Amino acid sequence: MKRGKGLTFVGDSRIQKYEKPKLNRDYSEFPGRTEEFYPDFLLKEWVTGSVFLIGFLCLTVADPAPLERIADPTDTGYIPLPDWYFLFLYQILKYSYASGPFNIIGAIVIPGLGVGALLLAPWLDNNKERLWSKRPVASAMMLISFAIIFYTTWESVAYHDWETQNQQGEIVFSNLDTEDPVYQNLIKTNCTSCHGGELTGASGPNLVEADLAPETVQAFVENGSGDMPAFKDQLSDDEIKQISEFVANLEETSEDE
Ligand code: HEC
Repeated sequence: MKRGKGLTFVGDSRIQKYEKPKLNRDYSEFPGRTEEFYPDFLLKEWVTGSVFLIGFLCLTVADPAPLERIADPTDTGYIPLPDWYFLFLYQILKYSYASGPFNIIGAIVIPGLGVGALLLAPWLDNNKERLWSKRPVASAMMLISFAIIFYTTWESVAYHDWETQNQQGEIVFSNLDTEDPVYQNLIKTNCTSCHGGELTGASGPNLVEADLAPETVQAFVENGSGDMPAFKDQLSDDEIKQISEFVANLEETSEDE
């Protein structure tokens, strides 16, 4: 039996008006409405949100995000990689028709179409049906977006050079003394722009792990090699000696000293 239906007391001053308790109101008269927004619905939302939040907190504690070495502004060879949820945008920028001279297509047009479709979604499909198969426009938009995002994310992961990625971000402790005036000279002569601010490698090789004799370093500095320029004309003999000894002396240490 529907509670209270059609029964309304009017106009008897001897009967005290009472407020129906808000909780657990009978919603059988309101098809489609099943509960109070506040507090019932919000409470459920809040509990669900908390479960996810605490779940994520536990995951981050159990498996902390891997850290790379401190960002090095002198390292021009470092290739940054976005977090996994942006890899699909990153991948789009690698296609030849969406990069280089067509960067604007990959950076603005394609993401713009996606966001535009999202904004227009309520107008593109205002069907009242709830079954996905009866809402072809909305369902198709979702499936296509999902397929594109899934495929480009996969492609980005599958074809990425993870070895270089892990190397370039590797934390290497060394006996490098950044206060040493010779180190300042290495910055001035741009060694660090190719070999990294901590000389642990960038576009040029890692000089900490290299374990070279001073004469070998000197030969590289004087004559250059491959993509490395010669520094004979830029540096005095003394400077070259100092630099060579400084670089040859570099070695890995087990932790920060
Ligand atoms: C333009 C980029 C560039 C600059 C600037 C540069 N290097 Fe290099 N360096 C390289 C490259 C590339 C190699 C690898 C060359 C090869 O394998 O033929 C290299 C190799 C070396 C090597 C040999 C490493 C090994 O393991 O074989 C040493 C030592 C070295 N560089 C020291 C220096 C020093 C010291 C300076 C600054 C005076 C310097 N480099 C500046 C790019 C550079």
